[in-house]
Amino acid sequence: MAGKIPEETIQQIKQSLDITEVISDYVQLKKQGRNFFGLCPFHGENSPSFSVAPDKQIYHCFGCGAGGNVFSFLMEIENISFQEAVGKLAERTGIAVSIPNAGDQRSDPLLKEHSQLLEAHELLAKFYHHLLMNTTEGQEALDYLEKRGFSKESLESFQIGWALPNWDFTAKFLQKRGFTAEQMEQAGLIIRKEEDGSYFDRFRGRIMFPLHDDKGKVVAFSGRSLHEEKPKYLNSPETPIFNKSRLLYNLHRARADIRKQHSAILFEGFADVIAAAGAGVENGIATMGTSLTDAHIQQIRRMTDQVIICFDGDSAGIQAAFRAAGLLHDSGCDIKVALIPDKMDPDDYIKQYGADKFRNNVISTAMTLIAFKMEYYKLGKNLQDEGQKLQYIEEVVTEISKLKKAVERDYYLRQLAERFSLSLDALKQQEKQLFFEARKKQTPNERTFQPVTVLQTPKKLYPAFQTAERRLIAHMLKDVDIVYKVRELLNGEVFNLDEHQAIFTYLLGFYEGGNVPDSSTFISFLPNANLRRLVSDIEMMMVSEVINDEEVNDYIKEIFNYRKVLEIKEKKQRQMIAEKEKNYEAAAQLAMEIVRLKKELKK
Ligand code: GTP
Ligand code: MN
Repeated sequence: MAGKIPEETIQQIKQSLDITEVISDYVQLKKQGRNFFGLCPFHGENSPSFSVAPDKQIYHCFGCGAGGNVFSFLMEIENISFQEAVGKLAERTGIAVSIPNAGDQRSDPLLKEHSQLLEAHELLAKFYHHLLMNTTEGQEALDYLEKRGFSKESLESFQIGWALPNWDFTAKFLQKRGFTAEQMEQAGLIIRKEEDGSYFDRFRGRIMFPLHDDKGKVVAFSGRSLHEEKPKYLNSPETPIFNKSRLLYNLHRARADIRKQHSAILFEGFADVIAAAGAGVENGIATMGTSLTDAHIQQIRRMTDQVIICFDGDSAGIQAAFRAAGLLHDSGCDIKVALIPDKMDPDDYIKQYGADKFRNNVISTAMTLIAFKMEYYKLGKNLQDEGQKLQYIEEVVTEISKLKKAVERDYYLRQLAERFSLSLDALKQQEKQLFFEARKKQTPNERTFQPVTVLQTPKKLYPAFQTAERRLIAHMLKDVDIVYKVRELLNGEVFNLDEHQAIFTYLLGFYEGGNVPDSSTFISFLPNANLRRLVSDIEMMMVSEVINDEEVNDYIKEIFNYRKVLEIKEKKQRQMIAEKEKNYEAAAQLAMEIVRLKKELKK
């Protein structure tokens, strides 16, 4: 599968990389023992079962079974071919490789369709950007953006552009580059008129914000009106490459910063993300004007467990922040909320007060979740009114009773007591009461309210023969001699599981090709993802470093025994049928064979 890239080059790339470092670009990893653990990027989960073994240079998810080496990780996560993965990693290491016919890998029709849609967006984003920055047609839009405080650097790094106010400018541009009307319509860039089947551009006379996916590919646009035309923002429709309820604006640019700072900032609007980046706050992301979905949360959780929510200071913003905070908190995030004063949005605030004030007075002083909730419950209440005041106090004390740390509960109760001149003891009593009431309502399962942070890798129970085969493979991956010993003992027989036999056969070929034991290298040798997953799974099992002859013999015996167990089963069935058919001679013969097999089993 290595194609024409020389084996030595691949080895060289692999050796100059650390798998933990590469995977860290996608998964937040924590060290535990000799391995690293994190949330699996290949399936949704809230407790980490994805592990990386730096000593073996492989990864494996105990939850979904994903696994392999650094190349297969990149192939799976980026959905690219082996050669493309080698190319990307080569780039990272600075090792020069020429990738033979990387384009040929795109023979999958779906991938081909996607790559054409992506290409159309890429070309257009560049062209829109050029129109904004360098042409008289774009001047008015450029003036507007500059007046709004967008710097040249921001316009460059977010690739902001301008779509001419024509009906067919985009269509013509893409047509000249070989795209069909159907492709452009599928990309959401042109719209088909019902009446006569003619087409017109979706985006006309709008400031164009390219929307990048998590890999940094332009997959859609949001166009802002320059004058007061409605809608203010016009987005691409859902297409095969654009899913509005998944996309997080700026994720590809922010990811590294989010990891570095161990926190992400969630904004309401993407204009805020751009303004914040201009103010030196680079870990900002935003949804596309929709409320937060599970898909958004999963992507955030893979990078960090700390989120600062920085929404508009108006009541809609506070409501939205409350909802987002609840969802993120439930997913296990530590939440802070930075509220912008005076009903401004972050973008306005930065323009009015500058970058320093934004960083120091807004982001750095973000409220804890409980402090925010104490503000939130004030919304729409007149605290001079006795009844509303009592309701407010009860709501806040309920929230305080959910806090896990006694010090925190104490702190906020004191604050509340002071604010309303109440007796602290009375508040404490009320807090306890609310706590026990809530607890009574919980099912016993929910009662273990301390989140389980200790990782438990589920130990799967396999039948004895399967464990024996897995153990043998684990040892064969470490030691060439064992492979030959096993081959001799099997004496022409095969492993019970086809995948195991396949791994055994490939392993023989691997060693005969002069390779030394190295499971990570061996994984690249395997032709399909299933086998790669299985090898990484087996490699993650703990096996003793050495194995003696007796152990090898025991495992082989298990393998043969299983064969016999199956044979006995089959013969018993035939025996029953023979008896039913009153074929007593055959039945007696089968009974004897069963006794013999059983005797052999006991040996
Ligand atoms: P500016 O007015 O340019 O400063 O935008 P803003 O960032 O202040 O936007 P606002 O707070 O009004 O909205 C937040 C987000 O909601 C935007 O980034 C958009 O994603 C989305 N949004 C706002 N208006 C519209 C609209 O008319 N249509 C759609 N589809 N989305 C919108
Ligand atoms: Mn704004």
